Amino acid sequence: MAFNFLTADVEQQKQCARYRARQCVAEQNGRYVKINDKSYLNFSSNDYLGLNHHREINQALSVGAERFGTCASGSSLITGYSYAHQALEHDICDWLNKPKCLLFASGFSANSALMQALGHESSQLYLDKLSHASLIDGARSSAAKVKRFLHNDIEQLQRFLAKNQQTENQDNELNQVIVSEGVFSMDGDQADVANLAKIAQQHQALLYLDDAHSIGVIGNKGQGSSSLADIDVVMATFGKSIATSGAFVACDNNLAEYLINFSRHYIYSTAISPALAWATKKSIEIIQTEHWRREKIIELSKLLTEKLDKKIKLIENSSSIHAIVIGDEITTLDVCQQLRNKGIWLSAIRPPTVPQNSSRLRVTITASHEVKDINYLANCINEVIQ
Ligand SMILES: Cc1ncc(COP(=O)(O)O)c(C=O)c1O
Repeated sequence: MAFNFLTADVEQQKQCARYRARQCVAEQNGRYVKINDKSYLNFSSNDYLGLNHHREINQALSVGAERFGTCASGSSLITGYSYAHQALEHDICDWLNKPKCLLFASGFSANSALMQALGHESSQLYLDKLSHASLIDGARSSAAKVKRFLHNDIEQLQRFLAKNQQTENQDNELNQVIVSEGVFSMDGDQADVANLAKIAQQHQALLYLDDAHSIGVIGNKGQGSSSLADIDVVMATFGKSIATSGAFVACDNNLAEYLINFSRHYIYSTAISPALAWATKKSIEIIQTEHWRREKIIELSKLLTEKLDKKIKLIENSSSIHAIVIGDEITTLDVCQQLRNKGIWLSAIRPPTVPQNSSRLRVTITASHEVKDINYLANCINEVIQ
């Protein structure tokens, strides 16, 4: 029979404790999630700033729908690009101090688009080993040469850059792009952004940062990695701390012009909902002024580190994401189930999302959590992980 692989591959996932299934969420906010009629403390949410359900953002969504419609009714190059999109792009440019900004349907699509656009046949892309799947797939399907450096290993990156400089013929155009994430999605640690920017400049390379997990959380106004250095190209999704949906790329004028003219992801896709663009604009306005949300994440993260038993290995960082690496898939699933029995929702992150034998609990702390939630979480983890 044809397509046997469909069932065989899923069966194989089950055999090695990597089977994935969806859970239908009845309700959720940054603090609680309700699944199968049961409410859990939610430590798996990417709503880092607790802005989902924010009254003013919901109002902006409704005003946006009235003024511009729920649907863009076309791609950006036909009639889909509205005042709501333009105003949002403008605000993002001001926020991150960049000349241009383009909106995409998702972060996945923006990363794919940018890797393909910058991945010209004359280009060399250098990706951090822990880069998001969309960056890896985008880079691999581009015409560029691709090299991956060990996670946050700047020395190895420098060796690659120096070697490439020597081997390239002087007459050849040398288009190099360093690709990293501001905060890494599965470990929560940060790239050394200032150093990456310096190295990029020394080698006349472009620095491309995926700021999906930094935007809103890092920087005095939540500007993410742009608060740490001048980044050539920044991508961030709206679907995490900004609490809407879609993504942006902030860059210079030349790259924006190139994308508008050549990026298939941009040209052949319906522009994001203008109502949502209007809501996103409001969310970014709130993010810049409500500093307490970032302060609370830092405070609660510190508390978690203090309360966990010293034998529990936590990857320390100043983001919302706190990874507790357990090892094999079966033990990790078992720990998650025990926590679930105690009313805590934490997803097990397993290969291929993370490397072999590094299955983990990925704890996300949001501005909606309370001190008592963190104390309870730490007590439960201490009890369950012996
Ligand atoms: C680092 C990173 N980049 C990109 C994406 C994709 O963004 P989106 O969800 O908007 O497609 C994600 C996750 O969703 C992510 O974690």
